[in-house]
Amino acid sequence: MKVKKAVFPVAGLGTRFIPATKAMAKEMLPVVDKPIIQYAVEEAFQAGIEQIIFVTGRGKKALEDHFDRSFEIEHALEHKGKSDLLKQIQELVPKTGTIVYTRQNQPLGLGHAIWCARDIVGDEPFAVLLADDLIQTDKPVLSEMVKKFDRLRASMAAVMEVEKEQTDKYGILDATCVEDDIVRIDDMIEKPSPEEAPSNLAIIGRYILMPKIFEYLGRRKKGAGGEIQLTDAMKILLKEQPIFGYKFNGKRFDCGDKAGFQMANLAFALERPDIRNRLIKFIRDVEKDF
Ligand code: G1P
Repeated sequence: MKVKKAVFPVAGLGTRFIPATKAMAKEMLPVVDKPIIQYAVEEAFQAGIEQIIFVTGRGKKALEDHFDRSFEIEHALEHKGKSDLLKQIQELVPKTGTIVYTRQNQPLGLGHAIWCARDIVGDEPFAVLLADDLIQTDKPVLSEMVKKFDRLRASMAAVMEVEKEQTDKYGILDATCVEDDIVRIDDMIEKPSPEEAPSNLAIIGRYILMPKIFEYLGRRKKGAGGEIQLTDAMKILLKEQPIFGYKFNGKRFDCGDKAGFQMANLAFALERPDIRNRLIKFIRDVEKDF
């Protein structure tokens, strides 16, 4: 029952970032100097994941190339004696055979994207990471969830409280607190209006799921926004298995949103000693004009 595989739904068109995403995968947009997707992939490997499953779509070639060797760049860096950079780009390429690609050929929703990975995942628990949810923390969320999973042996999702007016952007829970940082989910609903929402506790894009979920995803029932929703399949799973929520510690940025993406850039840049001081000076200068 070890969690060895992680599914990354990356087929989205990124229309909110047009024109930047017209010819480039939105997951390749950089936060400071690293594509969004690389943060999530590093988090997965750090949590002991052995196989990355990308559910891609058309126009995602840059993403595939990013995790492959680049002989041209390697050659140029070697030639210029830039050994640090050379090491960096060589290290980001996972071991051959640890990345698998499949395609979601129709945009039918998150639930459908995950269902596309069913044969690659097989009959074992697996993780799902939504790269748009970038989390700044000293306790990487998936690693913590894997530890909890080893003890609880049940599906779980990362959760956090959101503003009540924002519930229609998330899967929202009705849940009971069972430990300091763990809730047991009693019910869940995808993107409810603030009036309908049972709480303001929202699912954030890290999951560990039991393979039984594929059976319910396979029913292809449309939910919120006319899409096949993961939350709806989890709601059915809940009738026969417990599902927990992990209240992580840290700041979460929604990189699928323009303001969230800028905030992520600023927050992660402020962690870099080489640029931090210049940024702080700039922020202080700009602030004077508000
Ligand atoms: C997805 C899930 C939702 C979850 C959210 C977290 O929604 O469907 O339940 O709360 O991710 O970011 P999306 O952001 O893809 O609309």
